[in-house]
Amino acid sequence: MSSIRAAVLRTAGAPAEIERLDLAEPREGEVRVRILASGVCHSDLHVRDGNWPRPLPIVIGHEGAGVVEAVGPGVRSLSVGQPVALSWLVPCGTCRSCRAGRVWACVDSPSFRHRMPDGATVLADPGPDGAPVLSYCGIATMAEATVIPEAAAVALPDGVDPGVAALIGCCVATGVGAVLKTAGVPGGASVAVIGLGGVGLSCVMGAVIAGASRIVALDRVASKLDTARTVGATDALLATDDRAATIDALRDLTDGGPDFVFEAIGRVETVELAIESLPLGGTAVLVGLTPFEARASFGVYPLVDGSRRILGSNYGFAEAATDFPRYAALHLAGRLPADRLIDRRIGLDDLEGAFDRLRDGQGLRQVVVFD
Ligand SMILES: NC(=O)c1ccc[n+]([C@@H]2O[C@H](COP(=O)([O-])OP(=O)(O)OC[C@H]3O[C@@H](n4cnc5c(N)ncnc54)[C@H](O)[C@@H]3O)[C@@H](O)[C@H]2O)c1
Ligand SMILES: [Zn+2]
Ligand SMILES: [Zn+2]
Repeated sequence: MSSIRAAVLRTAGAPAEIERLDLAEPREGEVRVRILASGVCHSDLHVRDGNWPRPLPIVIGHEGAGVVEAVGPGVRSLSVGQPVALSWLVPCGTCRSCRAGRVWACVDSPSFRHRMPDGATVLADPGPDGAPVLSYCGIATMAEATVIPEAAAVALPDGVDPGVAALIGCCVATGVGAVLKTAGVPGGASVAVIGLGGVGLSCVMGAVIAGASRIVALDRVASKLDTARTVGATDALLATDDRAATIDALRDLTDGGPDFVFEAIGRVETVELAIESLPLGGTAVLVGLTPFEARASFGVYPLVDGSRRILGSNYGFAEAATDFPRYAALHLAGRLPADRLIDRRIGLDDLEGAFDRLRDGQGLRQVVVFD
């Protein structure tokens, strides 16, 4: 057993406390990863703020990377010292989605239970009778170290900055995958991306890789538009509360509306904006996640009559074992500049300040780094 510092959420809507916890040794098929970087994703903020009720107490964080520090019996794919990015969805392997090869739509992933596949917990309050603490999505990356199933740790090539590796584990896989895998954007298509956080900027980078002819980036924060241009957006639009004006401007830039529009915020009004901006035959890809109870509306007639489509995209349809190394290779080849998404590296003690900035839409991706 080891003792680690971690961000523990004990009450939804209250700050995560930075506490010392006991971490179990890796058992059969498990590995211990020393976390080097953990990105602050808006999904952590949804959990912190209580938008998504989760069992508590729980160590948060699901966008992490590090190095394998210990392996349990039977682990074959990883050895000590291997750099890894962590996957927040370990497929069950047996449900109807897994059997059909759609692991991103697994209906019975142990990750949803925030435990190891056999139901065990690996974290506990200090001491022999310490109460169990859950691991968010089974990986709990806002911690100095974590114990996870072998399948949640994906080997990366040497030379990838740990901050970038962490982002590959969530926002890059989610955004790039939404473009390349969920939507399968063909070369020459026009694309719009609404919301330019880590996820939306990853959609922009994915659209560049896909060979989109026009990539329009929208946000309500002007500085995000400049960043979008540096990662490949051809045009940028400052979104205002005037939805009709935003849609008109978007249509002007895309010959009547974007072939593909990606919503990367998770707000009802921008979901509706995305759908409304579509030309005939256009596709809206919903990537942002709302509070559980949110509902959006759209005109049924134009959707059907215009052969428009609405797609939901979880985790960019990621198959972590093959997609993470592929995204890392694209990064190393200079084709996926994910390093430009990181604007602050902070300590675990600054996490609450990072959440405040994220809530206000300030800055880009903040990454918690560990010594
Ligand atoms: N589908 C998935 O598997 C998946 C994975 C990861 C994250 N997410 C979700 O994606 C969303 C984005 O995550 P993120 O970490 O990039 O968030 P973020 O907070 O960093 O980015 C959101 C961006 O939207 C902008 N914005 C907010 N309201 C706006 C409006 N009305 N008009 C225009 N722009 C607006 C903000 O300024 C910000 O730049 C979150 O809901 C998150 O939970 C989904
Ligand atoms: Zn995330
Ligand atoms: Zn499954």
